[in-house]
Amino acid sequence: MKNLIVVGNWKENKTVEDAQKFLSEFTSFYTARPEVYVIICPQFLSVDRVSEYIKMNRLEVRVGIQNVSKFEEGAHTGEVSARAAKEFASHVILGHSERRSMGESDGDVRMKVELAAKYELEPIVCVVNEDVPIPQGVKIVAYEPVEAIGTGNPDTPQNADKVAEAIKSKNPDIAYVLYGGSVTAENVASFTKMEHIDGVLVGGASLDPTSFSSIIKAC
Ligand code: PGA
Repeated sequence: MKNLIVVGNWKENKTVEDAQKFLSEFTSFYTARPEVYVIICPQFLSVDRVSEYIKMNRLEVRVGIQNVSKFEEGAHTGEVSARAAKEFASHVILGHSERRSMGESDGDVRMKVELAAKYELEPIVCVVNEDVPIPQGVKIVAYEPVEAIGTGNPDTPQNADKVAEAIKSKNPDIAYVLYGGSVTAENVASFTKMEHIDGVLVGGASLDPTSFSSIIKAC
């Protein structure tokens, strides 16, 4: 059986209290599977509490963040550095199309990947197709076609697999290609059973503890 990665991207949702409530419910539904690596990415303000909860309760879950500064440190109001984030998180989502649509460039993503590597945060780089450049050293990529994100209209598993195969053949260092875009407990297995897809990046369906744990069970 292949190893899979399941990422929950909470985007701009959940207060610290909501995150706490999610975790206490999730703990009662979630059964860890050795072949499935689970990463939850809350908003920055909840990252500390989420990582503390996971440690205290020995949950088999990692904590990621959804972005990081492209600058190492200094006078960059409102930014969060990779060095500071590393105290709480092990992974970082970079280059999500929602960030690219606000002006984040391939060059920005490259700078962020470099800082993530320096501070041992594992980047998960999002791409909308196989032509987006992926910086060297990246091991985890998420293929997320824009029209599938948050719409309830996922890509077909066959097409997603084709894109995942193309990404791997262009970038031989990549170990995992995840699929993202309207993933649910009902459709997740149709993606993860494909030869070149190694997991999923889940937005909306990761916000509910029952549906997120069902995705982990079903994949
Ligand atoms: P969705 O979002 O699962 O709500 O479609 C996926 C993502 O944008 O990461």
